[in-house]
Amino acid sequence: MRTIILYGSPHANGDTMALVRAFRQELTGDIRLIDACHTTIQPCADCRYCLTHPRCCVNDGMMELYADIETSDNIVLASPIYYDQLSGPLLSLCSRFQVYYKNPLVTRRLGVFLAAAGGSSKSIELAAHTAALIFRQLGARFLGSAASMHTDCIPTGKDLEALHTTQMLARKLCNAYKA
Ligand SMILES: Cc1cc2nc3c(=O)[nH]c(=O)nc-3n(C[C@H](O)[C@H](O)[C@H](O)COP(=O)(O)O)c2cc1C
Repeated sequence: MRTIILYGSPHANGDTMALVRAFRQELTGDIRLIDACHTTIQPCADCRYCLTHPRCCVNDGMMELYADIETSDNIVLASPIYYDQLSGPLLSLCSRFQVYYKNPLVTRRLGVFLAAAGGSSKSIELAAHTAALIFRQLGARFLGSAASMHTDCIPTGKDLEALHTTQMLARKLCNAYKA
């Protein structure tokens, strides 16, 4: 089982990473983490090359990621919540999936969303909706999400309920391949 984690926090050891660690503890197989905040991968410029060609014309680190995505079983979007949304760097990276708009991926892969929010957001609904759009672009079925919602008061590393939900989600993902 191959899993790609697209990571959208600028913090190497912040709240979102606490969820990623809990998730990884329960996950089997090959896991690759892509750090959207510290990558040289360019955002999509909407040049529209991919509307008439099967590939993106920007030859950067995304080429390797396309190959990884296309052979992966699972995609995890892991992000802090900014203005109720996925973080800007993660959205920028995911904009390069526009190549699959005209060249859809036909797969059985699964998608999971992990989020950390300071506390001003009442829900992760808007970000989860965006995650669902991205999963659809990647031909992935949205398996579920887990969130730590009050990081201003409880750092995610101490948010036992969120960590437990995250671990259960990882087990659900593993079990989906056993069935
Ligand atoms: C630019 C910006 C926007 C934010 N917007 C929200 C928000 O809309 N809702 C919320 O609950 N927290 C918001 N936060 C707080 C972060 O979600 C919170 O600090 C989170 O724990 C950061 O996770 P990290 O440590 O993984 O980066 C925002 C933080 C920043 C920097």
